[in-house]
Amino acid sequence: MSEPLWWQSGVVYQIYPRSFQDSDGDGIGDLAGIRARLDYLHWLGADAIWISPIYPSPMADTGYDVADYCAIDPVFGSLDDFDAMLARAHDLGLRVILDFVPNHTSDQHPWFRESRSSRHNPKRDWYIWRDPAPDGGAPNNWRSNFGGSGWQWDEPTGQYYYHAFLKEQPDLNWRNPAVRAAMYDVLRFWLGRGVDGFRVDVIWHLIKDDEFRDNPANPDYRPDDPDIREFLQVWSCDRPEVHAVIAEMREVIDEYADRMLIGEIYLPLERLVTYYGENLAGAHLPFNFQLIESDWNARRIHRMIREYEAALPAGGWPNWVLGNHDQPRIARRIGADQARVAAMLLLTLRGTPTLYYGDEIGLERVPIPPDRVHDPWEKNEPGLGVGRDPSRTPMQWEAADGAGFTTGRPWLPFSGDHRERNVAVMRQDPGSMLSLYRRLLDLRRSRAALTAGSYRTLEAEGHTLLFERHDGDDELIVALNLGREPHRLALPGEPRPWKLVLSTHLDEATRIERHQVDLRPNEGVILQPG
Ligand code: GLC
Ligand code: MG
Repeated sequence: MSEPLWWQSGVVYQIYPRSFQDSDGDGIGDLAGIRARLDYLHWLGADAIWISPIYPSPMADTGYDVADYCAIDPVFGSLDDFDAMLARAHDLGLRVILDFVPNHTSDQHPWFRESRSSRHNPKRDWYIWRDPAPDGGAPNNWRSNFGGSGWQWDEPTGQYYYHAFLKEQPDLNWRNPAVRAAMYDVLRFWLGRGVDGFRVDVIWHLIKDDEFRDNPANPDYRPDDPDIREFLQVWSCDRPEVHAVIAEMREVIDEYADRMLIGEIYLPLERLVTYYGENLAGAHLPFNFQLIESDWNARRIHRMIREYEAALPAGGWPNWVLGNHDQPRIARRIGADQARVAAMLLLTLRGTPTLYYGDEIGLERVPIPPDRVHDPWEKNEPGLGVGRDPSRTPMQWEAADGAGFTTGRPWLPFSGDHRERNVAVMRQDPGSMLSLYRRLLDLRRSRAALTAGSYRTLEAEGHTLLFERHDGDDELIVALNLGREPHRLALPGEPRPWKLVLSTHLDEATRIERHQVDLRPNEGVILQPG
């Protein structure tokens, strides 16, 4: 393979801007805060940051309801703050990826205000307006992802508009060329400022069925599932025409040198890989959420990695994700001990890893008192456990009242153990989760086998995973114990001497022989011949 590109060899770190660093005491993170913490990310070893939305927004869906695509919400600062943050990031060699939210705007966006003002407004067709069904009800059975119908009645103009998420997030009509042109100009606005790429929100949603057919019932739906699961999203998303739109987006990206596109996609493997596009003219990285969706089971994961590698189109670059702002924290899902093994897996697999802020200090689910709930999904469908606030709590920097995050009252609470679980304390502890992340990131950068080498799964039993990474002379074996019992694992090939490169326990106590390694409970190791 030729020299890997930055987004292939690099590691992406996701910042949820409300929760990274507050600089003005309002309890909400902001751009000046991010700028002040870039040195930390450089120290940690990240190569790029992806920042969730920072645009002007009524915050009905904490910023995923955009009222102006080419400006900064005052809560986060100004365009000058943005430019200063970007310049500092680039000085440190960090790339900056913005969140692009093309499927829907805020209902406060001027485009939608115009669109809803009358049936004859030139922007009417920028959104998805439909007449009622013959019985006067919603045009079809499409649901909102946050519960209830996806259709909102608009009394003054006598039609419904479609919203895949909140009614405050009307879907744009991407079949309209004027919408596409306007949104491509948004991309150019940020690319021209020097942004290195975009993570595209719900990219598989952009095009809906042109006949608005009813979605079929989901046979696996249970009454305590969230509403959206009652029907299979067959006609409301992942339509074949979406790929032509993404190819156009990609052309815009390619007008600028060295930029990239990530697509947010929750689809089964065979659908996911189509988002690389024909001749790889789609997203550079269709987000691969299989580690989030899979049970923490070695045999399952083993098979899943193999199937993913096999399904990639020729030249398609893999990527892996353990968590994001929509998902339960990894340490919550699999426990603190296994979260260390997961970190080693994420950072030794082939392809670009994306880290979620706070996972490097092992943040778990932070309980949110009922009167501090923000997430609209939790408010719409309480009690189902869909709330996302527990994974969006502020970063914990030091053992102080505001955890070094804020001098005011944080918008969401800290974890109960924030005086121990914070960057300042964990930096001093050579055995901490933070130290493990830093060691792994350092290793990944310095070993060709990890950054760009080939991947081969090796046979292993029970709760263990074993694979090889290889590039020229650089050869590594990764052996992971996903179980809570010790496990003696046979090493591949003829018996030969092996050297410990790194253990998730961050000590030297692993017993290695010429033909086997004794993995301790919840231990992962990286070995090299020698
Ligand atoms: C994406 C975002 C999520 C948001 C939704 C609607 O899934 O990650 O946070 O609520 O899109 O924009
Ligand atoms: Mg602030």
